[in-house]
Order: sequence, then C-alpha cells, then structure tokens
Amino acid sequence: MSDIKKIKDEFLVKLSGDLKIENVSQIKSELFGKNGKISNSFKNLKSLPVEERKKFASDLNILKDELQDKINKKIQEIEITEINSKLENEKVDVTLPERNIVQGKIHPVSQVIDEISSIFSEIGFSVEEGPDVENEHYNFTALNTPDNHPARDMHDTFYLDDKKEFLLRTHTSPVQVRTMLKGKPPFKIIAPGRTYRSDSDQTHAPMFHQVEGLHIDKNINMGHLKGCLNYFIKSFFELNKIKMRFRPSHFPFTEPSAEVDIGYELRDGKIIIGEGDKWLEILGCGMVHPNVLKNVKINPDKYQGYAFGIGIDRLAMLKYGINDLRAFFETDYRWLNHFGFDPLDVPSNYRGLSR
Ligand code: PHE
Repeated sequence: MSDIKKIKDEFLVKLSGDLKIENVSQIKSELFGKNGKISNSFKNLKSLPVEERKKFASDLNILKDELQDKINKKIQEIEITEINSKLENEKVDVTLPERNIVQGKIHPVSQVIDEISSIFSEIGFSVEEGPDVENEHYNFTALNTPDNHPARDMHDTFYLDDKKEFLLRTHTSPVQVRTMLKGKPPFKIIAPGRTYRSDSDQTHAPMFHQVEGLHIDKNINMGHLKGCLNYFIKSFFELNKIKMRFRPSHFPFTEPSAEVDIGYELRDGKIIIGEGDKWLEILGCGMVHPNVLKNVKINPDKYQGYAFGIGIDRLAMLKYGINDLRAFFETDYRWLNHFGFDPLDVPSNYRGLSR
C-alpha cells in the first residue's frame, strides 16, 4: 500500500470517531504540524526519483485538501452538537410561574420607635438605651419603689433568680437612673425599648415597648412637661389640635404624678383621635421625685425635672388602626405584610433621625 493510501485510511478512521475539539486539534498537528505526516511527506519529495515526484506531489496535495476538509467539517459538526446540547440543557420554560419575590417590611413597632425618636430629637432629646435584663436596684430601689410595692410582686415581675436580684425590666425607667449615674446634669433624653410584665390579654402582652423621657435641668417645671407632651402628641398623630388631659396618679419615682389621656370618639366602630368625649390613657409622667435625684447624687434643691413613660405599642395600634396587641408578636408574615412599612415609605412627620 502506498504511503498516501496508508495515511488516508488511518486518518479517515481517526476522524470518524466520537471526538472533542481537543482531539481534532491533536489530529491536525499529527498531520500538518512540524513533524506531521503530511508535512514530512512533502519534505521527502526531494528524495524521490524525478519521474515519481510529480505524481506523488499531486496525490499528496489532493490528500492534504481532503483531510483538511474533513477536519473542518468535523470541527463544525462538534460545534453544532455542543450548541444543540446547550440549548437542550439550558432550555427556558416560559410557561413556568414567576418566582415569588419576598420584600421585607418594617414592623409597626420599629416604625413608631423611629417616628417617636425623630419627633423628640427635634426638640433636643437624645436617645439612650438600657439592658432588658436589669437588676432590682435600678428597676425598683433607685426609683424610690419601696420593698412592699405591688409592682415588685411575683405576679407582675419576671424574676430571673431566687434571690430576686435580677429581672426583666418592668419599665424603661431604670434608664433614667443609668443615664443620671453616667453623667452630670442637665439631661434631656428618651429611651425606647422592650419591657416585660406577667400579663397577657387583648391589650396586654408579657413583652411590650415603652419610651422613657427624662429632662433634668435648673428651673424645669410641670409647664415644660405639659408643653413637651402636647407637642409630641400633636406631631405623632399629625393633628393641629388634640384634646389632652392630665389625671392625678401615683408613681413612686415622680411627685406629683399624672397619667395623660387623649380625647377620642368612635365613628362607625373606628377610633378618631383628638376629638369627642371619650378618653384614652397613653402615658404616665410626673416631676422626678427628690429621692430619685438623691439616689443618683444630684442635689434636688438645685436641679429638678420631669419624666414620662409612653406605651409604644398602644400608640402604634391607635395610629395605624391595629386592634389586637398580640398580633404584634405573633410573627405572622401575612400580618406584617399588611401592617408593615416599606423601607422607603417616609411618614409625613418623619424628618430623619439625629441620633
Ligand atoms: N414607668 C412608669 C410605668 O411603667 C411610667 C412612668 C415613667 C411614670 C416616668 C412616670 C415617669 O408605668
């Protein structure tokens, strides 16, 4: 068999196999590379007798073209197979239903805390925080709460140890004490956060939220307290006029003490804030008791001021028409989707936080 025929048979068989692009490149260099079979055959032409040379050269050229052609076709074939298999594997089924895009929502309580912080920061209050796990001293004793006070009762307070030394804070008022121990007067702070009491029904949850307010300076009086709360309530409910009343009350850490009610009426089963002859309690307040000031080494003859504690959840329920407090803490996504806020929803009275 002639060389030409041998090369042809060998490579036609090779090229008919199930090949990848790399295999074809390999075959190509076996034929046409520096030491390739075709390249070498051309080099050997010189050694042939002249009469054979012409015919051999012509046959070799034909073979060269034929194999080159086969190689090109093979490459094309492989590429088409690859594209087809890609199309098959990466097929997009346009009839599939779209994927659910879940967008997070801001919980109404977080929203209201931001709104409250924003309103108070406008009139010079800064934001303080305290721990949820408190000791009995900050939660009760330093706040002038006597040992036998009913708030200390097991029925009301979640104690964390038998000695009743540690507890879950029952109000945000311990932040008053922590703030005053940390610095020197004047103080003008609010302290939003979680609070805990052993209570559970439609309007009470064992965990709820309060925001404490404290303003201590020289010559602060109840008029300042009233003005501050009036400004706050009007800003919060976005009303120019709102009925508000101070009702005498008692807290061990304020003297005198008051609870504040706002006026409302029921229209078609809905609460309309600000008018009407019904009253809703929204906060407790008073002038800081001299004993509390003494407990944190502040001279009550020089400094005095007011404090208040507002129920955040109650405010959120009133402003956004939510009627069951328990829903706040049930982590029901459908509820949150309905009552929650878009991160970019800016309420009309929101002027940014200046923490
Ligand atoms: N800590 C009181 C409560 O939880 C509220 C309050 C705060 C009252 C500050 C007076 C002053 O009910």
